[in-house]
Amino acid sequence: RQPNWIAPSILSADFARLGEDVSRVLTAGADVVHFDVMDNHYVPNLTFGPMICSALRNYGITAPVDVHLMVENVDSLVPAFAAAGASIISFHPEASKHVDRTLQLIRQQGCKAGLVFNPATPLTYLDYVLDKVDLVLLMSVNPGFGGQSFIPATLKKLQQARQIIDQSGLPIRLEIDGGVKVENIREIAEAGADTFVAGSAIFSQSDYQHVIDQMRAELAG
Ligand code: DX5
Ligand code: ZN
Repeated sequence: RQPNWIAPSILSADFARLGEDVSRVLTAGADVVHFDVMDNHYVPNLTFGPMICSALRNYGITAPVDVHLMVENVDSLVPAFAAAGASIISFHPEASKHVDRTLQLIRQQGCKAGLVFNPATPLTYLDYVLDKVDLVLLMSVNPGFGGQSFIPATLKKLQQARQIIDQSGLPIRLEIDGGVKVENIREIAEAGADTFVAGSAIFSQSDYQHVIDQMRAELAG
């Protein structure tokens, strides 16, 4: 099992002061930056691309950047994100024509590769590619927006994903994204997650460190 990571989703950050806000949340104890890329095509919303990732690197952000691609034409964006300083690149298998090829491309570009599962997407996409995956990301809301409620059926799916990962013996992270809060993070960890995306739960508060400390206290049991 990998050490727990708290990954604030900058979808809920202050875009007009992004560098400052991201460095504040890292100083407050976050482990990685979760970077939600939306194309108004695969999901009904539009955010930011590789230029903003580069801008954060140029601003001095050195923490791992966990890029969550909610886009179609995944392959065309992978080299641009690798060049922009992405550490992990995850994509939705339904959005790539050739899932195995996209996973290989991400690793060839020097990044860790992740597969993302929507609430209704079965884990069977992992059956033949697990050796090419560094991270499994389970969506606990339908992708596109911050501030939605955690879908409880995801807990069982987390247990199933945890079992698949443990049986493989591979050092794969299990990330959860959507509706994670201080109140439910312990239950989510018990179901098997080790990487916790939280957008609104962190950025809606003025004291980021307080929320992150509370989350860590819950994780410590
Ligand atoms: C949703 C995004 C999430 C989102 C989570 O499509 O992938 O990362 O920012 O936001 P919260 O934590 O507010 O549910
Ligand atoms: Zn996300």
